[in-house]
Amino acid sequence: MSSETIKKRNIYIAQPSMGQEEWEALKEPIFSGWVTQGPKVKEFERMFSERHQVDHAFAVTSCTTGLHLALVALGIQPGDEVIVPAFTWVSTVNVVLYCGATPVFVDVDPKTFNLVPEQIKAKITDKTKAIIAVHLFGLCADMDAIKQAAPDIAILEDAACASGAGYKGKPSGSLGDIASFSFHPRKSITTGEGGMVTTNREDLAEKVNTLRNHGASISEEQRHHGPKPYILPAFDILGYNYRMTDLQGALGIVQFGKLDQFINERNEWAKFYQQELKDLAWLQLPDFSEDYQHGWQAFVCMIDETKAPHSRNKIMELLQERGISTRPGTHAVHMLDYYVQNFGFKPSDFPGAQAANDYSIAIPLHNKMTQEDYQYVVQTLKEI
Ligand SMILES: Cc1ncc(COP(=O)(O)O)c(C=O)c1O
Repeated sequence: MSSETIKKRNIYIAQPSMGQEEWEALKEPIFSGWVTQGPKVKEFERMFSERHQVDHAFAVTSCTTGLHLALVALGIQPGDEVIVPAFTWVSTVNVVLYCGATPVFVDVDPKTFNLVPEQIKAKITDKTKAIIAVHLFGLCADMDAIKQAAPDIAILEDAACASGAGYKGKPSGSLGDIASFSFHPRKSITTGEGGMVTTNREDLAEKVNTLRNHGASISEEQRHHGPKPYILPAFDILGYNYRMTDLQGALGIVQFGKLDQFINERNEWAKFYQQELKDLAWLQLPDFSEDYQHGWQAFVCMIDETKAPHSRNKIMELLQERGISTRPGTHAVHMLDYYVQNFGFKPSDFPGAQAANDYSIAIPLHNKMTQEDYQYVVQTLKEI
C-alpha cells in the first residue's frame, strides 16, 4: 500500500448521516418560533412508538436522562439494589447512583458483550428492585432468559444502541417494563444529543411524562394552547428538565424516516466484514443466533492476543496511522477509577467484562462509508 493511500484515508469510527433534508426540517421550528418540546417532538414520539410497537414514547435530552427517569418512575430509592452488567457505558450504572441506590454487577459474555442471565439469580436479594438489561452495540440481551431468572423484578432496557433492533421478532424497547434509547451521533440515527423512553405500562408512562417536565401536571404546549395559558401548572412531585427541543424533534423525524434503510445498509456491510474477515484467526467476529435482529450500532470484535500480530492497543495505533479509527467496544465500569475508589472492585471480579475491556475493538461501520472504505479496512486488517 502506498504511503499516499495511507495518508489520504480518514475513516471515522462513526459519522452522522445527515444533510439537506435535516437542514430543511429545522426551518419550521426556527420560523414558527416554537423551539421547545412541541409538535415536532410529538410527531417524532408517535413514529418511534409505532415502529417499536409500544403504547408510549417520550423524547428526552439523552439516553442517560431517560434511564434516570425510568428508575425514578420505577420508584428506585436509597437502600434499593439494581442489577447491571459490568461492561457497558458508564452512565448505565451512574443512573443507579443518581437515585442513591446500589449497583450490583453481573458479568458479561465476551462473545455477545451482553450480561450473562445465569448469573442473575445469585445476585437477587430482598432489596433488588430492577435489572438494567443493556442491548450493547445493537444486539439485544437475552430477555427471555433474564425474565426467567428474575420473573418478579422490573426490567429496564438500556436500548441506547438498539433503535430498530429486535429479539425473537419483537422490537427493542417493547421487551421489558420500560426502555431508554440514545440519539447521540455515534448511534444509527441522531438528534445531536437526545433520547427516547418507551413503555407499555400506563403507570410508568404518566410518571415519565411528568418527571421530564419539572413534575408539571401539564406540558407547556398544552398550557399555551389551552384556555388559560396564564395559569401555571401544579407541581406535586420533584421533577427534572429533561425535555427534548422541537429543533431536535424536527431532526429526529427526518432521521427516523431513514432508520430501517440505515440498519439494512449496516447489515449488508456487517455481512461483508463477517465474510471477508472470517479467516483472520486472531479476530473473533460478532456471533449471535437468528433469534436476534441486530441493529449494528457498532461492529465490535475481540482480539485474541495469543494469535494476533500485536497487542489490541498496538493494532488500534497501527490502524489509526493508516487512517482507520477504532475504539475499544466500551469500558468495564467496575474498573473505572470512580467505581474502584468507591466500591473497591478488582478487575478480576468480572473476568468477562475485564476481557471485553482489554481486548474488544470496534471497527468502523456507518452509513457514510463507501464500498472502497470497507474494502480498505478489510485489506488493512489483513496486512497488519
Ligand atoms: C449502553 C449505553 N447506555 C447509555 C448510553 C448513554 O447515552 P447518551 O449519550 O444518549 O446519554 C450509551 C451511549 O453511548 C450507551 O452506549
